[in-house]
Amino acid sequence: MVRVCSEAELAPGEIKRAPTEVPIAVYNLSGSFFATGDYCTHEKSSFSEEGYLDGEEIECGWHFARFCIKTGAVTAPPARKPLLTYDVCVRDGDVYVILPSAPSAVANEAEENTSEA
Ligand code: FES
Repeated sequence: MVRVCSEAELAPGEIKRAPTEVPIAVYNLSGSFFATGDYCTHEKSSFSEEGYLDGEEIECGWHFARFCIKTGAVTAPPARKPLLTYDVCVRDGDVYVILPSAPSAVANEAEENTSEA
C-alpha cells in the first residue's frame, strides 16, 4: 500500500500520478477514488500529465482513446487493450493505492496477457 497524497490534494475531477515504481494514475471521481495504469495502451501517453477526466472515463490527450477508470475497459479507439486497475483506499484523510496483487490488477493483467497470445 503506497500513500499518494492527502484527500485535499486530489480534488474532484483531478488526476495525480502515484509515487510508485509502476506508473499509476489516481482519479477523484466526485469524491470516490480510482486508479489505473498511467500510460495509455495505445502509445503510452501519460494520463496524469495529459489526460482528461470526463465522468467515469479518462480520455487520452494524444489520440483521444477513452477508458473506464472503474474497470480499465476501452470505451473508444484507437486503443484496444484495457488498462490495469488498482484498488484505492482512504485512511485518516490520506489516499493510498494498493499494489500490485490487488485482484482487479491481477485479473486485468491475465486478460491482457491472454489477448496478446
Ligand atoms: S497514445 Fe493514447 S490514444 Fe494514442
